[in-house]
Amino acid sequence: MRIDVVTLFPEFMDQAATVGVVGRARERGLLALQGWNPRDYAEGNYRRVDDRPFGGGPGMVMLIDPLRAAITAARAAAPGPARVFYMSPQGRPLTQARVRELAALPRLILLCGRYEGVDERLLQAEVDEELSIGDYVLSGGELAAAVVVDAVARLQNGALNDALSAEQDSFEGDGLLDCPHYTRPVEHALGRVPDVLLSGNHADIARWRRQQSLVRTAVRRPELLDEAALGQADRRLLDA
Ligand code: ADE
Repeated sequence: MRIDVVTLFPEFMDQAATVGVVGRARERGLLALQGWNPRDYAEGNYRRVDDRPFGGGPGMVMLIDPLRAAITAARAAAPGPARVFYMSPQGRPLTQARVRELAALPRLILLCGRYEGVDERLLQAEVDEELSIGDYVLSGGELAAAVVVDAVARLQNGALNDALSAEQDSFEGDGLLDCPHYTRPVEHALGRVPDVLLSGNHADIARWRRQQSLVRTAVRRPELLDEAALGQADRRLLDA
């Protein structure tokens, strides 16, 4: 898939997207990522990209034209239609289910604003959807865009070395939290690995992991359990 990011700080995205799974997805040709700086499309000696808000108040508002030109250039950089997402705390909250849908699209354009704002007319004309990564305010959309890039990159076929690891993540499948994980050594000053994981009994291990997921979800995120369709066996594991 291809992701174009419209941002005053394209170097920020470059940094975030060269390491780990995202970097590997790019190397493997599974993800193409390109930044577009509205300043490159701004006019005048000062290449102005923002101005004071009409009606007064603090902060600056991003100008329509440089953003519009950057979005137009991003659209034209590859064939096919692209959905445009504005990163904003007022947007629809990002969930793993939504990440899966986004990961299946051929192209995304992510628009990063400074939080004080972007001229509303630009949003109305160019943006298909606003996306929030949580109920807190960042100083710009770049970190949020990097979150989207990471979450969709790791779902591209072939990005993870073990495809099962994505399926077993928290929120995947039935929306429960992940179980705890252990590795060597078995005995450590900080504690011992649970015996069941050493037993070699795959059915017991699966049951234990399921129970850990259920209990963790009940304790940490009880609201998720209401939406998970739990069967009889799950109910018994939770009550045990
Ligand atoms: N920009 C500023 N805050 C944000 C948030 N919480 N989610 C997405 N974009 C943002």
